[in-house]
Amino acid sequence: MAANDQKRFGRLAGRHVLVTGAGGGIGLAIAEACIAEGARCSVVDRGADAPDAVRALARAHPDTLAYMAADVTDIAGIPRLLAAAQAKFGAIHTLVNNAAVFDMAPLLEADEASFDRMFSVNVKGMFFVMQAVLRHMVEAGTPGASVVNLASQAGRRGEALVSHYCATKAAVISYTQSAALAMAPHGIRVNGIAPGVVDTPMWAGVDALFAKYENLPIGEKKRQVGLAVPLGRMGAPAEMAGAVVFLASDDARYITAQTLNVDGGSVMS
Ligand SMILES: NC(=O)c1ccc[n+]([C@@H]2O[C@H](COP(=O)([O-])OP(=O)(O)OC[C@H]3O[C@@H](n4cnc5c(N)ncnc54)[C@H](O)[C@@H]3O)[C@@H](O)[C@H]2O)c1
Repeated sequence: MAANDQKRFGRLAGRHVLVTGAGGGIGLAIAEACIAEGARCSVVDRGADAPDAVRALARAHPDTLAYMAADVTDIAGIPRLLAAAQAKFGAIHTLVNNAAVFDMAPLLEADEASFDRMFSVNVKGMFFVMQAVLRHMVEAGTPGASVVNLASQAGRRGEALVSHYCATKAAVISYTQSAALAMAPHGIRVNGIAPGVVDTPMWAGVDALFAKYENLPIGEKKRQVGLAVPLGRMGAPAEMAGAVVFLASDDARYITAQTLNVDGGSVMS
């Protein structure tokens, strides 16, 4: 093993990372990667019981992973969640704001219920979890504290069929910038990643909705979007996790207010 490789292990050693929406897909891969880098991980999702994949990970890492049931739209419940996480693993060094929901419809049919659902989870829940964790970080003076928000390439550009979701992800990018500026005097960094198309349970639902609105066979949209990526395929959850670990680590200590495209080259900035 090269000396350089050795140096990369344990980039989050001793840190406590809280990941929302970590019941599957990208969130679970982030938790797994953080644990592999030496972190203790509070894994949050909305189900009362941990999903099977989380339970399997917890069995492999009983001392470094704890599942916590919480709905990020329950703003009044956020202090309870943070207290439980701190009681388990101490001060929180890194928040990964990952929970989100997706829906789509032609613009003229995009309705209020769908707007409320997506803004409630993707924007309101994201913001108030972040605010509560940042307060805690400021009070605790936690060294190396940072936040990584999950935006999307959908937040870079509108889409005719995806207006509400695109708007929620544009809001994530904007809140990332504002929070980074507000927290810079405290030495707390706030960044985001903008995944392109990633093969997760969310994409099964996305594919079914495109099939409905674009009259495509199931699986066809997924095939098309993968081929349209300059690197020629959809991303894997672990490839998003690598970027999150980097932004959370001291390797990124001079990076804040950025949303990093992790999309195989689809968006250039
Ligand atoms: N998959 C993609 O192609 C893609 C692309 C760009 C951005 N993203 C973003 O990446 C993140 C993860 O996406 P994913 O593909 O892994 O999705 P996913 O649907 O596989 O996982 C999202 C998780 O969030 C949880 N969740 C939803 N609402 C919640 C709530 N109110 N409280 C707590 N947990 C809640 C779900 O239960 C689920 O486990 C999201 O922010 C998503 O918008 C995904």
